[in-house]
Parts: sequence; C-alpha cells; structure tokens
Amino acid sequence: KNARLTLDPAFEIAPVSRRLFGSFVEHMGRCVYTGIFEPGHPRADEHGFRTDVLELTREMGVSVVRYPGGNFVSGYRWEDGVGPDRPTRLDLAWRQIETNRFGLNEFMAWTRTAGVEPMMAVNLGTRGIQEACDLLEYANHPSGTHWSDLRVKHGVAEPYGIKLWCLGNEMDGPWQIGHKTADEYGRLANETARAMRMVDPGVELVLCGSSNSHMPTFGAWEATVLEHAYDAVDYLSLHAYYEENGDLDSFLAAAVDMDRFISSVIATADHVRAKLRRSKSIKLSFDEWNVWNQSRYEGREQGDFEESPELIEDTFTAADAVVVGDFLITLLRHADRVSVACQAQLANIIAPIRTSPGGPAWRQTIFHPFALTARHARGTVLRVEPRSPLLDTSRYGEAAQLSAVATVDEEGVTVIAVNRSAHEELDLIADLRSIGPLHVAETHLLAAGDDPHATDAAVVPLANVRLDGGELRALLPAASWSLIRLT
Ligand code: AHR
Repeated sequence: KNARLTLDPAFEIAPVSRRLFGSFVEHMGRCVYTGIFEPGHPRADEHGFRTDVLELTREMGVSVVRYPGGNFVSGYRWEDGVGPDRPTRLDLAWRQIETNRFGLNEFMAWTRTAGVEPMMAVNLGTRGIQEACDLLEYANHPSGTHWSDLRVKHGVAEPYGIKLWCLGNEMDGPWQIGHKTADEYGRLANETARAMRMVDPGVELVLCGSSNSHMPTFGAWEATVLEHAYDAVDYLSLHAYYEENGDLDSFLAAAVDMDRFISSVIATADHVRAKLRRSKSIKLSFDEWNVWNQSRYEGREQGDFEESPELIEDTFTAADAVVVGDFLITLLRHADRVSVACQAQLANIIAPIRTSPGGPAWRQTIFHPFALTARHARGTVLRVEPRSPLLDTSRYGEAAQLSAVATVDEEGVTVIAVNRSAHEELDLIADLRSIGPLHVAETHLLAAGDDPHATDAAVVPLANVRLDGGELRALLPAASWSLIRLT
C-alpha cells in the first residue's frame, strides 16, 4: 500500500510556535520532590535542582512548563511556598503531605536554569480573584507595594514578567476541589481575568475547557464559559489522555480522536465568536496531553497522606512513543489555532523523564519523538494534503493509515510521519517538486511493529529513503514514527 503527500511552501498553516513543546510540573507524587528537586542528591546544584534532569529537559527541547497543577492547584495557597516560613499542609487532591520546600521562587529559578518559559496556574477552586491578583502582584509588579516588596525581601529584586496564566484547572470535573458549574466558573474566570489584567495588562490568560472530550458537559461547557469570558481571555484549554487498554489497533489511531477534539473545540469557540459578534479568535492551549494507563490507576480517594508518594509512574512502550509522536504531528497540524501545548508531566508522573531518589535519571520511549520533533520542526507548518489508505478501528472508527506533517525553514524541510497500522508497512511518496533541490540530511525511526510493548525501544535511521527527481520515497514499517530531515 502507499500514501502520498504534496509539499508546497505556499501551503502554509502557521509558524511553528515553540510553545507547542511544553511540559508540566505539578506538585504530585515525585514530579517536584525527587523529580526535578532533590537537595542532597549527588547531581543536585546549590538550589537542590537535579542537574541530570535539567540536562534531559534541555535535550528534550521543552519550551514552556506549566506549574504548580493540575488538581493540586485547586487547594493551593501560593504564599506557603515563598519566604522563610514554609508550613506543612495536607494536599487533598492527591492525599499528599506538602512540605512547601519548593514554591514559586524555586520554580522560577528552575525555569531560568532550564531555559524554559513559565506557565502559572491560579487557584480558582478554594480561592478567588483576590489571591490570584496577589500572586500576580508578587510575581510581576516591580516594587513599592505589599506583595511586590515581599518578593524583593525574598531576594528577587526584578519582577518575573510571567506572561502565561491558567485560570484554574479542570473546573468542570466533579473530582476537582471547588468544582463549579459552567456558569459559576465562567463568571469567576471572567472577573478574575479582568482584575488580573488591571494588575498586569501584559498577561495571556487561559480559560478552562473540559477535562476531556468524554465529559458529559463537553461542548456545552466550552460554549458557556466562553460566553462569560470571551473578551477577557486569550486561550481555551484542552486536556486528553489515551491508553492502549487491550486494543492496540485503536490505540495506534488515538490521534484521530485528538484531532476531532481540537476541531470540535475550534468549532465551539467560533460559534461563540459568531454569537457574540466578535472578530477576535480564541486560541487553544492543549495544556495536558499524553498517554496514561489510567485504567491501571486506582485513585487516592482513601489511605494515608504521604510525602511525595510514587504515583502514576507509568513505564512507556514503543507503541506509546509512536502514539506520542502522532499527537505531536496533530498539534503541529493545528498550529494555526493551538498555540500552547504541554505534555503532562515532565518527571516521574506519566513522564518522559524518570528518576530514582538518590539515583539516576533516564529517558523513557516517549522522550525520543518529543525531542526530535522539538529539534527539527521549525519555521512554518505546511499543509501536506495526504492521500492515505484507511483503517477501521473499533474505538475511533475510520482512521487514515498515514498521519503526517511537514515544516519548512530557511535551511530545509522536515517530514514527520506515522504509519498507524499495527501489521502492514506503508510506502510513503512525497511530491517535493515545489520545494527545490534538497538532499536527505538525516532520518530517524522508532518502530513498534515487532515488539509494541518493548520499553527500551531505540531510535535508528530509517533505511531506504530515496529522493529522486523531486519525489521522496520511504518505506514506513508497521506501527512506526519517522522523521526525515532534508536540507
Ligand atoms: O496530570 C495529572 C492530572 O490529570 C492533573 O492533575 C489533572 O489536571 C488531570 O486530571
């Protein structure tokens, strides 16, 4: 079987936003404590940051990091995490003991060392407008007021100028502390956004969409919260996690669902735009996405409170990596509307980077497609007009066997492709006649066909890539992710 693409520099979708290569650090399990932060570890720096994890974060090409939650933020008092007095608290979201040894200033110092942009979330579960404004004043106001002077007293003379702020987290979810109806949340988010802009007009604000597209209120929630807060916000959030759960054929096509989810949210946001007669378009922030074997997770509604418990430390497989690669293709294909995306989470919690306390840090399979896409997808995303055989999946219905995207930059072209069939290879034929003379500079392949559940899947060169007379041909193995760089 074969599938065809056409690459033409005139078919532009949008510039590649670096913010699509975001990640997420939540005070959950061992993401912060013994993940990115472990004073006394042999590789810890003077702040207690694990330099092995910092190196891997940079290697991965992470651009934005969302913090401090997640469900955690909906019960969080940010003041506990700044200054010399750090009270120990119960975290009700994950039944943890939170020591608050790591807080805003530690996170900001970590982001600077990692070379990433911070994306903060405010608590709209147990708290509201005032605390969000206080936090923003502490972080972004130069000096001469109570909160900004407190930051200066805490040793940070210059304001941080944090741009991206999430207005709460998953407020539609009944599990959320301070869960709200769409009307309750929409009003609160709108008023919080208006007040935050009075403190700092330069902020970019993210309104909570649904926790996932299977929520009973999905669609209606988006429409209602946007009707309340359309003018006050810049982005609407999306969250989605996928798992194999005994159906590899469907799982390999999971990005079809992500694609439909994005299209549905765009349609809903544009419906509200029409209804309100506005010209501004709402952008999307896909600020939690990943593979997560959620059916194996038993929840933490009961049991003892623990300090940095081992939570959802999933070990990823070759198939997971192929699917993660396909999610990145999907996000890039929607780069005209999806401006921010965060893989959840960075360390230990369903993460590309795992650590052992006192011991090493290592890359999981899903690390590789992320790192290679972040490195090579540059410049402008192109619409590639794929023509592909179809697969029939029990979970997602009809799915194109080929998922692909291309980017073009000043030095060359990157083609990224996934063959979603678990069983059949696919001949990829790309028409490059409009692009000009190029040669194959490097190729990368992560194939899951032989052993989809291998946890040590490696990236190898993609063999037999040919470029002849403006036609690129490559044989994509079953269940594989490939990247071809042409210069
Ligand atoms: O990333 C893990 C959790 O998943 C987050 O805390 C929450 O927002 C989502 O449900």
